Amino acid sequence: MRSPQQTIDLSGVPETMLWPLWNRAAEQRRRNRLLDDPIAADLVTRIDYDFAGHFGRPSVYHVIRARLGDDLIQAHVDACGDEEPVVVCLGDGLDTQPWRVADPRIRWLSVDLPESVALRERLLPAHANAQCIRCSALDPAWTDAVPADCLPFVSAAGLLMYFEPLEVIRLLAMIADRMPGAVVFFDTIPPWFSRKTLRGFQVTGQYRAPRMPWGISVDDVPEFLEAIPGVTAGRVWTYADPYPERTRILKLLSRIGPLRRRLAAGLAVARTVRKTRAFYMDRS
Ligand SMILES: C[S@@+](CC[C@H](N)C(=O)[O-])C[C@H]1O[C@@H](n2cnc3c(N)ncnc32)[C@H](O)[C@@H]1O
Repeated sequence: MRSPQQTIDLSGVPETMLWPLWNRAAEQRRRNRLLDDPIAADLVTRIDYDFAGHFGRPSVYHVIRARLGDDLIQAHVDACGDEEPVVVCLGDGLDTQPWRVADPRIRWLSVDLPESVALRERLLPAHANAQCIRCSALDPAWTDAVPADCLPFVSAAGLLMYFEPLEVIRLLAMIADRMPGAVVFFDTIPPWFSRKTLRGFQVTGQYRAPRMPWGISVDDVPEFLEAIPGVTAGRVWTYADPYPERTRILKLLSRIGPLRRRLAAGLAVARTVRKTRAFYMDRS
């Protein structure tokens, strides 16, 4: 017998966790899919929520973000050697990355607001190597759960745009200070889209997106990162770049410099600088 529909009571930014879930679930129906997410596909049938009414037709963008994150995590873990790979997912929502990446070497830390963690724990299966932490990403307390001698990969997928610009800078500086040698993966929206959400972006008749105060042009991301103490810029992509077979028109448009600069959303990697011995000597 099928279990009864799960009721949920989310609003504001926590409700946005249902949006990428909807898109990853829809991807599961494609033959040439970018990722396998049977858990997401099952979950959208079990949650009592009008996904199509809220988010409209599924799109590939959250799927691209999830797949690129999966690939980057796997590459990071493979490069870890003897060091313990720890993946911290900030604003994890109902992401199913531990099951998609499925590498038993990884220890997963899932950080989200208390109401979001409660839902995650209720709806997703338990995972032997994963631990949930009820904490704002902006609160340094979550960093206490990250072992000092590991090589952390911090994923902030679908999170930083909901913060004020200064909060984004403080968060990245805090990660740099507490987790030298970390890789940080995040996504960006352009300033025009940020402004649209501040005016009240009605996605569908039923759903208005929350405010997204942090917008940045993809081309400005490296300079933005380099200005933060202890942070250095890695690669930056537009959504047209990683899997162009799914974004042909976007790929063509993104070759036009001014269009790309003004319109494109981004996916980015930052690294935090490993501290030298001299740094620790100065501190003691
Ligand atoms: C768009 S969802 C992204 C979910 C997930 N990363 C994914 O890609 O499926 C945004 C998530 O950020 C979480 N969130 C909002 N504010 C937060 C904060 N201050 N600290 C940690 N998580 C936060 C929400 O609860 C929600 O789970």
